[in-house]
Amino acid sequence: MEYGERVSEKLSRCPACIRQEFEATERKKRQIQSDILIDEAGIPERFASCELASYEPVNAKAKNNLDLIRSYADAWPEMYQNGTSLIFSGKPGTGKNHLAVALTKEIIRNHQASVLLTSVMRIIRAVRRTWAKDSERSEEDVIAHYTSRDLLVIDEVGIQYGSDSEMIILFDILNTRYERMLPTIIISNLTPNEISSVIGERLTDRMVEGGGTTVIFDWQSFRSQKGVTAV
Ligand SMILES: Nc1ncnc2c1ncn2[C@@H]1O[C@H](COP(=O)(O)OP(=O)(O)OP(=O)(O)O)[C@@H](O)[C@H]1O
Ligand SMILES: [Mg+2]
Repeated sequence: MEYGERVSEKLSRCPACIRQEFEATERKKRQIQSDILIDEAGIPERFASCELASYEPVNAKAKNNLDLIRSYADAWPEMYQNGTSLIFSGKPGTGKNHLAVALTKEIIRNHQASVLLTSVMRIIRAVRRTWAKDSERSEEDVIAHYTSRDLLVIDEVGIQYGSDSEMIILFDILNTRYERMLPTIIISNLTPNEISSVIGERLTDRMVEGGGTTVIFDWQSFRSQKGVTAV
């Protein structure tokens, strides 16, 4: 209000309180979005509590891998921008799934990324379902589904579950994601050379383009060391 030369300002509410309230609402909104993204990520029950902090650096290589995966999570905006993919290759029980889930939760919580964890078998099943007479989904819909998330984690790569034509869909998914510069993590019990011969040298090469790398897990199973029930 203006009284002659003087301006008198009267605030209906304290601006600092409004800011605080706004920030609290924003935090709550992010929390709800993270919960939804975690629900939709398809994290198996068994791995639901896996975190980077609960991964024990059981040897120097395990510590290196943990550090590398933590750096990847911290630099997610850059990794996403460059479409940086990873290959986890190695022996059973060394924590490949543990770290993939921990990484997923980290980038959802900190960057609201959309992630999907799946396996070759599940992709093949989804493809097979499209062949049913009454199927409402086409193979293109399946490819679109797996290329819609910011990050896709594919487990059990290297096991030839399906026929050649089914496996071609898997390659199509990897290739489409590569072309769209979307990061993918593949997990395998095979050695890097074996992975290369299964998915082809060209695709393997594309996987590690843009700063991507193969993370090797070649030590004794944590399951046998700690008596963890086998997954
Ligand atoms: N270094 C570790 N610190 C803590 N827990 C670990 C570690 N390594 C493995 N685990 C635990 O051991 C179990 C098996 O690990 P995980 O399933 O991640 O192994 P994997 O490498 O995916 O094995 P596979 O190749 O057989 O699928 C999980 O319960 C996981 O949390
Ligand atoms: Mg595994």
